[in-house]
Amino acid sequence: MILPIVKYGDPVLAKKATPVTEFNEELRQLVENMFETMYAAPGVGLAAPQVNVSKRLFVMDCSGGKNPEEKIVLINPEIISIEGKQTGDEGCLSFPNIYFEVTRPKRLIAKAFNVEGKEFTIDAMDLTARCIAHENDHLDGELFIKYLGPIKRELVMRKIKKRIKLGDWK
Ligand code: NI
Repeated sequence: MILPIVKYGDPVLAKKATPVTEFNEELRQLVENMFETMYAAPGVGLAAPQVNVSKRLFVMDCSGGKNPEEKIVLINPEIISIEGKQTGDEGCLSFPNIYFEVTRPKRLIAKAFNVEGKEFTIDAMDLTARCIAHENDHLDGELFIKYLGPIKRELVMRKIKKRIKLGDWK
């Protein structure tokens, strides 16, 4: 089932999400729906708060459905270490058609639980590392606009306000 994606301005996106405690059928269903929603959008990552569920999990697939190994879910993730830097364009499904450069770690190691409740470690580079950093921020109510300097941020906010006014923010 494709779930509605909440856009910037919705308070759920600014909330710190709570840990997943039950690894049950309801969670499996949510994960399945989140993958379906992410692929349909289309996007490479989707965090639970973006579908109005304030829980600590996100799905991602940096291959866009081409490589089954890259289709992963991180539940109650924790970033253990970061290394280096990369700068590149980034978008967010809660900010339709807004893209700008963000600097993120080049490499990142995280641990998380899978949908069965089994803990695993992921050692990610480049786009995968960028995606984990971006989605993990969502779980703490942080959004990618926080990485913009004051002038660029003002420009982006003005663009968003204009689009909200025009009804073009859905
Ligand atoms: Ni996002």
